[in-house]
Amino acid sequence: MTQKTITLTDNTSGKSTDFDVLEGTHGPGCIAIKNLYKDTGYFTYDPGYGMTGSCKSSITFINGEEGILLHRGYPIDQLAEKSSYLEMCYLLLNGELPTDTEASDFNSTIKTHTMVHENIRDFINGFRYDAHPMAMLVGTVGALSSFYHDSLDINNPEHREISAHRLIAKLPTIASYCYKHHRGLPFMYPDNDLDYVQNFLHMMFAVPAQDYVQSPVAAKALEVMLILHADHEQNASTSTVRLAGSSGANPFASIAAGIASLWGPAHGGANEAVINMLENIEQSGETIATTIARAKDKDDPFRLMGFGHRVYKNFDPRAKIIAKLCHELLDDLDGDQPLFDLALELEQATLNDEYFQERRLYPNVDFYSGIILRALNIPMNMFTVMFAMARTVGWISHWMEMHNDPEFRIGRPRQIYTGPAKRDYPS
Ligand code: CMC
Repeated sequence: MTQKTITLTDNTSGKSTDFDVLEGTHGPGCIAIKNLYKDTGYFTYDPGYGMTGSCKSSITFINGEEGILLHRGYPIDQLAEKSSYLEMCYLLLNGELPTDTEASDFNSTIKTHTMVHENIRDFINGFRYDAHPMAMLVGTVGALSSFYHDSLDINNPEHREISAHRLIAKLPTIASYCYKHHRGLPFMYPDNDLDYVQNFLHMMFAVPAQDYVQSPVAAKALEVMLILHADHEQNASTSTVRLAGSSGANPFASIAAGIASLWGPAHGGANEAVINMLENIEQSGETIATTIARAKDKDDPFRLMGFGHRVYKNFDPRAKIIAKLCHELLDDLDGDQPLFDLALELEQATLNDEYFQERRLYPNVDFYSGIILRALNIPMNMFTVMFAMARTVGWISHWMEMHNDPEFRIGRPRQIYTGPAKRDYPS
């Protein structure tokens, strides 16, 4: 097959240059511009990198126009229905679903790493009583670099793998300790007789004086939520992990950078912002109509939280799955129905509104995930921590993929300089 090319012509000099078009398994081709400056004397300008492919990846595929999300080729709805979170972790890390033996070995490996060094508990106890759990998480995951000197050689595949396993195994433990510290409650050790999700719920909600009675529906809802958030291609936090890691930073430091990026309200902080927004509507007496009017008003910085997506210009496929889950969970737990009803009302109103239709703004996964987490009694300031826990496998899978990529080099975007022209220092 002949190589597809695109010709770029400089209208000033009349010089034409051909650029290769690279094709993936699915999705539009990408113009390979690695030699653009050498061949033309220009860089590209793409604020927010919305048109820039930064790497080749075989982990996740998104078609935002059609609302398709595939992990290693498998559609997200099939994974959410048939898979488990740990199986999903194996798939993302290794590229294929595990055999029964591989699954059992992987589960045992993860279980051997669920505990953290006792000094990590002291480290978390050193935070102020009112520290935000995300502040504790970002600091503690970064601090893991100071505990595992035995596995920090990023050029050693075995070190990379054990770090990935440690991160996946320890995140629930650390997340629960951030919560317990915030509440002034004793930390619970992991219970390796429980599965990944049950163990997390145990560490969160059991106390030494009383065990936590597990609800299978709650555990299932959380498991699906973790699956839905496990990876999402080159989003801000994943790109941050890759960029931080591209300098050769260790995996714990790289994942801590990803957690920091996730924290913002335009990314992982959105599920918390959704609940704040719904509660505000409920308590302030504001109507759905006035809320929507504010979101459309260009003089008002307010945006409808949980709506819109950089990539999805159609329904977020994860939002469809999670909306159904919301119904099942709230029916079972007799949970926060008024807030959910309000959310459905808001969703309906936007679907019928020209502003949202024209801009193709649909509810995203975070619109519903906050309602589920709330129904599970997970406090709002832990919502982004939950997202980070789920996404850790995605981040570390991308970090590992990057280290196996022969084309990998340090990330270094360019800029258009708009400062003062060269001038002399006053004499
Ligand atoms: N409410 C009202 N208007 C909106 C919204 C919104 N939530 N989102 C986008 N718009 C408008 C925006 O004002 C712009 O209008 P115009 O063309 O008239 O200037 C147009 O839609 C395009 O918006 P954009 O800012 O260019 O879109 P973007 O791709 O840069 O931003 C986004 C994507 C997710 C940051 C944005 O939609 C947003 O801020 N949403 C609310 C926060 C949110 O829910 N974030 C979670 C994202 S999903 C989970 C994750 O990936 O972490």
